[in-house]
Amino acid sequence: MLVAAEGMHYTTDDNRKILDGTAGLWCVNAGHKRPKIVEAIQRQIEELDYAPAFQMGHPKAFELASRLTQISPEGLDHVFFTNSGSESVETALKTAIAYHRAKGDGSRFRLIGRERGYHGVNFGGISVGGIVGNRKMFGSLLTGVDHIRHTHDIERNAFTRGMPEHGAEFADDLERIVQLHDASTIAAVIVEPMAGSTGVLMPPKGYLQRLRDICDKHGILLIFDEVITGFGRLGVPFAPDVFGVIPDMITTAKGLTNGVIPMGAVFVTDEIHDAFMDGPEHVIEFFHGYTYSGNPMACATALATLETYQEEGLLTRGAELASYWEDALHSLKGLPHVIDIRNMGLIGAIELEPIAGEPTKRAFSAFLNAFERNVLIRTTGDIIALSPPLIIEKQQIDELFGVLAGVLKDID
Ligand SMILES: Cc1ncc(COP(=O)(O)O)c(C=O)c1O
Repeated sequence: MLVAAEGMHYTTDDNRKILDGTAGLWCVNAGHKRPKIVEAIQRQIEELDYAPAFQMGHPKAFELASRLTQISPEGLDHVFFTNSGSESVETALKTAIAYHRAKGDGSRFRLIGRERGYHGVNFGGISVGGIVGNRKMFGSLLTGVDHIRHTHDIERNAFTRGMPEHGAEFADDLERIVQLHDASTIAAVIVEPMAGSTGVLMPPKGYLQRLRDICDKHGILLIFDEVITGFGRLGVPFAPDVFGVIPDMITTAKGLTNGVIPMGAVFVTDEIHDAFMDGPEHVIEFFHGYTYSGNPMACATALATLETYQEEGLLTRGAELASYWEDALHSLKGLPHVIDIRNMGLIGAIELEPIAGEPTKRAFSAFLNAFERNVLIRTTGDIIALSPPLIIEKQQIDELFGVLAGVLKDID
């Protein structure tokens, strides 16, 4: 049980200080209990607690949208507010289908995801998602969905630092899907530029560009799900800043408010935005939105978060620390059970050989063992995923990997 938090640490109910190796759940990018954020929330609750986002507005929602488009990739200049990553994904998927229809191309309804993709837990997200445990219990899911293959190729790419050399050709799987369904039925492809929840899979060199090219060739929208990668995780504000490939939409949440108040945001291009904006004044442009879209408390939190990121250079701090982080992480190569290590910015993964017949058990033991040693890690399958707050110091990186080395030697 976690009862308090400050900076890089949680406090447990038995009063232990735990080093946060996961930024909460990939979201507390500026660290815990940041003064600007605490003050902004205190001020906002006194000033304006709630305002409807339908018909009405409030200044901070517009201020936040403007600030966000100052740091968003080129051309992604419009923002739709949601309350979570899952809602951002649903919003982007619905926007894609509605956009084509608004342009008179209503036959484009198919949504294409990727095996091993994680896009939250709502029906659209689990349908385009590719994690079996999240899908198998929930019936037939959304119709008209298909998946390209995942990019994990441990035989060719194990222990790669940064982007893997091999696998650009996995993007060509989209051509197979086009052959099967015809491009005229496909609205959008959604991928995580770096797949986080499935165990931290970097895009192979050239892969995202190839996906972009195939989408362009066939008039398919490309959505990047940046719920994890957005706001500095890769050492840049957003994934296009490092991969050089710009999608048509970006979904975000988590780091947008430092995880403190639930909020998400979907970035879209002028072209997508404008496609909905040609009706008469009294008619609703887009029949989609949430009671809490652009909630004033969330907007104030996000504004204070962005200010903190800016003042402390946190959106690019991952790049400054990346090589130190990389060396420390890869120093675990050769320790028991380790079959792959991968990294980029301030994210890293250690893939463990599963115990025969008992998948996930080894990684779970590592999680418990690390927690006993006062370090919080996250595991997914038999992969340890690390994503500390971007304020981490070098000596805390040493501490994190020192503890992990002990954990790997200790567990069965
Ligand atoms: C890429 C991605 N998309 C969507 C989500 C869902 O976000 P939330 O849990 O806020 O609904 C997550 C959560 O980890 C994510 O990693």
